[in-house]
Amino acid sequence: MEKKTAGPGGTTGDEFTREITLRICSSLDIKEALHGVFAYLKGHIPLAALVLFIIDERLGAIRRIEHASENVDLPPELIPLPQGLAQKIAARNFSLPFIVDIEKDEIFGALQPMVKFGGDTHLIVPLRLKGEMIGGVVLQALGEGRYGAEDLERAGCLAEPFTIALANALAHEEVLRYQAILLDDKRFLNLELHGDAVDGIIGGNTGLRNVMEMVGQVAPLNNTVLILGETGTGKEIVANAIHFASPRRSGPFIKVNCGALPEHLIDSELFGHERGAFTGAVAENRGRFERADGGTVFLDEIGELPLPAQVRLLRVLQNREVERVGGKRPIPVDIRVIAATHRNLQSMVADGSFREDLWYRLSGFPIMVPPVRQRKEDVPALTRHFVTVRSRDLGIGVPPSIAPGALQRLMEYDWPGNVRELENLVERELILHRGGALTFSSMLPGTEKKNLPPAAGNGGLRYPLNLDEANAMHITEVLKLAGGKIDGPEGAAEMLGINPSTLRSRLDKLGVSYRRLRTKGLGAKGHGAPH
Ligand SMILES: Nc1ncnc2c1ncn2[C@@H]1O[C@H](COP(=O)(O)OP(=O)(O)OP(=O)(O)O)[C@@H](O)[C@H]1O
Ligand SMILES: [Mg+2]
Repeated sequence: MEKKTAGPGGTTGDEFTREITLRICSSLDIKEALHGVFAYLKGHIPLAALVLFIIDERLGAIRRIEHASENVDLPPELIPLPQGLAQKIAARNFSLPFIVDIEKDEIFGALQPMVKFGGDTHLIVPLRLKGEMIGGVVLQALGEGRYGAEDLERAGCLAEPFTIALANALAHEEVLRYQAILLDDKRFLNLELHGDAVDGIIGGNTGLRNVMEMVGQVAPLNNTVLILGETGTGKEIVANAIHFASPRRSGPFIKVNCGALPEHLIDSELFGHERGAFTGAVAENRGRFERADGGTVFLDEIGELPLPAQVRLLRVLQNREVERVGGKRPIPVDIRVIAATHRNLQSMVADGSFREDLWYRLSGFPIMVPPVRQRKEDVPALTRHFVTVRSRDLGIGVPPSIAPGALQRLMEYDWPGNVRELENLVERELILHRGGALTFSSMLPGTEKKNLPPAAGNGGLRYPLNLDEANAMHITEVLKLAGGKIDGPEGAAEMLGINPSTLRSRLDKLGVSYRRLRTKGLGAKGHGAPH
């Protein structure tokens, strides 16, 4: 049978161990636990301070995690280990509690200048995990020679519970550290992606004045917003503007193109799924709604959402909870939903392809983004904006000027593809530009616009191109692919199967400025093809 030691307070060894274990394990916070143990221990053992420390390999130091003490000067929180000392500590393989001897012990002699053990007695309980000392608990009593064999034995019962608690606390600390790094990265990336979203909106005081006023009204709220408007009018940038002007701006902005998701994956993509919910679901997966927690979900092309997903979405909007596919319980989410469509949802409701109840939920605050033909006053500013921005993307150092009269002509056109069509037109004009001011004359459908097919799909380019134009376009594309590089492997000349000097002279003749194209930013952006 185990020996029972009667302590000063009359407690047995078992009771003592039980009480210590309870005090350590009853609190999730190891710091709180240490104070509980100190209060109890001091009634049984001479004790002026109780210190929990770890050997922090990352910092090459002994780091104090927490202490409880009475009228004692403690060493600094971080004690850097002198050269080679960490190895000596590891080699010593401390395992049982021991009393520190500064005179005879080399390790503690080396620590003395930093720790200043003074005339007190120190007892150390090493904490070991997987065969390695990860830290320890120090018991300090005032005066010399205060601890004996019985104290060593009693202190031994601190080792196990403290090791477990410390290992958990360290794992938790590590998780928090990674979490902080990830959050920081996320904030940075969010800003990188959308930081200038609001600044980049042209026409906020003119053609989009009403729209931007509505953005200002809803941004601070949490309500669902429906953005309507023809293709290419700028619905997405309005959604961006709402999110980044809202209190959720530092949270996630998760975009879902409902038309681009394959129907059989929509539910699991949006609402997530539990492990094994369907064939191929090997791990649990958080859906986009869960990922957007604390932020905004932008449901683009909401009219394309299949009916079963509409039912689930309605439940999310009503209850602010998502149910994963195969999930047992709903998961609460703190999200705001912004939806957009170029389709007429009301007529979809009438023909049964869009649920009426969902339409009511979504349409509480509709924002209509007007087509460009109803705000032609914005065309000049939009054109200038795209000339500047696209020149920069294409690596054109100084953006070309715009020929007199050109803007007037652009304003006369009806822009069925709206802002996106204008943006594409500007990009093509820049690519085919051969010096001088931009006239847009070769591309602008001009007066015969009514007879032309809608230009949204081809960026406003007039077909057929003449041979020079087609050549210039193809060469420019290849040059972009090659990142502006002409010679050598993977250079444009090699891809086109011609000599580099032939390519250069052809570029000169066609008026494509390859020197400009070499600069940074090229190839990073696409050709501006409609998405
Ligand atoms: N007012 C504006 N100022 C600056 N750029 C704009 C403006 N409106 C639209 N754009 C630009 O035009 C392009 C099309 O806009 P956006 O993608 O927001 O349109 P959309 O309405 O979502 O189109 P779709 O219905 O085809 O999805 C984008 O590149 C966007 O940056
Ligand atoms: Mg869009």
